[in-house]
Amino acid sequence: MKIAVNTGGGDAPGLNAVIRGIVLAASQKGWEVFGIKYGYRGLIDTKQIIRLTPEFVWDITNIGGTILGTLVKGDPFNYPIEKSDGSIVETDISDTVVGNFRALGFNALIAIGGDGSMHIADKFFKKGMPIIGVPKTIDNDISSTDFTFGFDTAVNTATEAIDKLHTTAKSHDRVMVVEVMGRYAGWIALHSGISGSANVILIPEIPYDIEKVCNKVKQLSLIGQNYAIVVVAEGAKPLGGDITIVEGVRTGGEVRLGGVGRKTAEEIMKRTGKETRSIVLGHLQRGGAPTTFDRLLSLRFGTAAVRLVEAGVFGSMAALRSTEIVAVPITEAIGQMKSVPMDSDILRSARSLGISFGD
Ligand code: F6P
Repeated sequence: MKIAVNTGGGDAPGLNAVIRGIVLAASQKGWEVFGIKYGYRGLIDTKQIIRLTPEFVWDITNIGGTILGTLVKGDPFNYPIEKSDGSIVETDISDTVVGNFRALGFNALIAIGGDGSMHIADKFFKKGMPIIGVPKTIDNDISSTDFTFGFDTAVNTATEAIDKLHTTAKSHDRVMVVEVMGRYAGWIALHSGISGSANVILIPEIPYDIEKVCNKVKQLSLIGQNYAIVVVAEGAKPLGGDITIVEGVRTGGEVRLGGVGRKTAEEIMKRTGKETRSIVLGHLQRGGAPTTFDRLLSLRFGTAAVRLVEAGVFGSMAALRSTEIVAVPITEAIGQMKSVPMDSDILRSARSLGISFGD
């Protein structure tokens, strides 16, 4: 058996641990594993394929990023090709990918990626490629799995940052606004905000009223807390307003989110008169060594993916359900984004702690 593996979309802590899980589990069965570099690029230019031996992956569990490299704009169904006049034309080169995959004699592809990568995997499965997916993203927004790997590490990084902001906020009687990642889901903001004792958490699922946010800040002053910590998810939006975008539309129709933290801070300062500062945690949340939780989850996902290849349940994704890793159809996983449910216990707990969501 010859298995190919690639990593797609934004990187997340734990990618290398998944790769290690795949390589070690496959080698136990006497199978060979090959790494496709930069998403699907290695199946377009096949010089970018490397043999992954157990020795190659022995010590990579705790290393962030991906040894295979990754691409955000690398969808073979809309691949950006530069023409002689310098213009970029999105072209469907998926047949080339399928052809090279077959010519190289691969028996399966394990695609590690987020929502976008799972959509691509689904399309290749429908073209006849034997694919297994592994859900990666710090955003934790993929349906059908309790958690994606990378999320726990991002939350830990954000929580640690929020902890540090408490002391400076308190010393200066300031409001500190922290913008965290998560795209259209509020998971990172919610988990890190609660754990970091934030006073206000703004998430995309609950459009906020800035007046209510300011009221919370003023109420805190009345009870003697002259500082406040506000955690804002990058995809949060005001009631009746829209998300904040850094730049225009990019390849594949994806927009870049960012700036809502600064906007919120300016409004708070204007309306409350309190000195306010904002900080964007940005890509720090994607870096560094994976936490123990993410290492274990990634190694379990990687080894489970090999078992799914052996069972021949292609078109499925490894998913965490309670304490077990199970197979779910990729089509089910990409059907709907996983948002924070309004009736979740975690939201109720946050409200019981007195955290405001600006609603
Ligand atoms: O999906 C992961 C993520 O980090 C999002 O939280 C964020 O909006 C986006 O990727 C950033 O993408 P890029 O690395 O292309 O700026």
